Amino acid sequence: MTALPPPLERIPREIASVCDYERFARERLDDKSWAYLAGAAADGLTQAANRRAFDALQLWPRLLRGCAGASTRVRLLGHDLPHPVLLAPLAYQRLFHPDGEAASAMAASAMEALMVASTLSSIPMEAIAAQAHGAPQWFQLYLQPDRAVTLQLVRRAEAAGFSGLVLTVDAPVSGVRNQEQRAGFALPPGIEAANLLGLAAPPPAQGHPVFDVAMAHAPLWRDVSWLASQTQLPLILKGILHPDDAREAVAQGAQAIIVSNHGGRTLDTLPPAIVALPRIAEAVGGAVPLLLDGGVRRGTDVLKAMALGARAALVGRPYAQALAAAGPLGVAHCIKLLVEELAVAMALTGVRDLQSIPADLVGA
Ligand code: GLV
Repeated sequence: MTALPPPLERIPREIASVCDYERFARERLDDKSWAYLAGAAADGLTQAANRRAFDALQLWPRLLRGCAGASTRVRLLGHDLPHPVLLAPLAYQRLFHPDGEAASAMAASAMEALMVASTLSSIPMEAIAAQAHGAPQWFQLYLQPDRAVTLQLVRRAEAAGFSGLVLTVDAPVSGVRNQEQRAGFALPPGIEAANLLGLAAPPPAQGHPVFDVAMAHAPLWRDVSWLASQTQLPLILKGILHPDDAREAVAQGAQAIIVSNHGGRTLDTLPPAIVALPRIAEAVGGAVPLLLDGGVRRGTDVLKAMALGARAALVGRPYAQALAAAGPLGVAHCIKLLVEELAVAMALTGVRDLQSIPADLVGA
């Protein structure tokens, strides 16, 4: 077996946009890790639709209005952020780079980007928090079968300094990951869910693998209000697509919503997140901030998401690819590219303030 090339130590000029990282990441990962990173559920229709939906939207510019002194700053759940690009929760990042989530957190800190650390991180959440150096971080929570174990994770996240809890509600059972299956993906020895080591596991359930095993412990609406009552941290629900679920999320105590189809990794043929976003914005009517996750590859995508009602956007696979290609340098560069593109898009459309974007900026 030929050795894979090491991460780049400099960014070559061929990497001018975040998608340019793909080729460099592919060369540095084995087929199994690549299938995990790049793959989606079933036929990848939702993954592709996330992109197509962004591409189908156009920005209608307003000119001659001046943007001197404008900025990309946004306020989000008590944080004053210099830009609205967040790192989405991605599991097992040591599959992509030896330093895994520590490298991503270091880059996020350097770029003042809010990072969401996954329950399924390959290093403990405390080691991710140690790289924050003042940058805000949220902890993504998968509800555990046992409430006491869930609370142990919450208390650790509070103690480590995470400032929000992102409860993922769209993946109680794993999607049909055909690309991973074809590649024979399994976690290699030495890469594991570091936060969950040593936590009490329930006795194995019997019966139907979906209905009796996975769904036996699936979160319910009442778990959302229970969780909200157990912590001072703001609760952010991730994975909402239906406007009625968004209303319910607010009623149950969510303080923000991440509109997401899990990057097309759960159920194939779900709608694009950017299509769901304006419907959810209408349903919640500004009651809580909305975030958009899924298909963001350009600064123009960030601007479109914000014009359609998002306060911020999360980026997933592109930063994993940048991590695989060039470690923390790559992740920082990935964020920098998106923020620079966003500034250019604002200047060329006459948007001075991301928190008051004219409704007619985006058209199809
Ligand atoms: C985990 O949430 C994944 O999408 O792989």
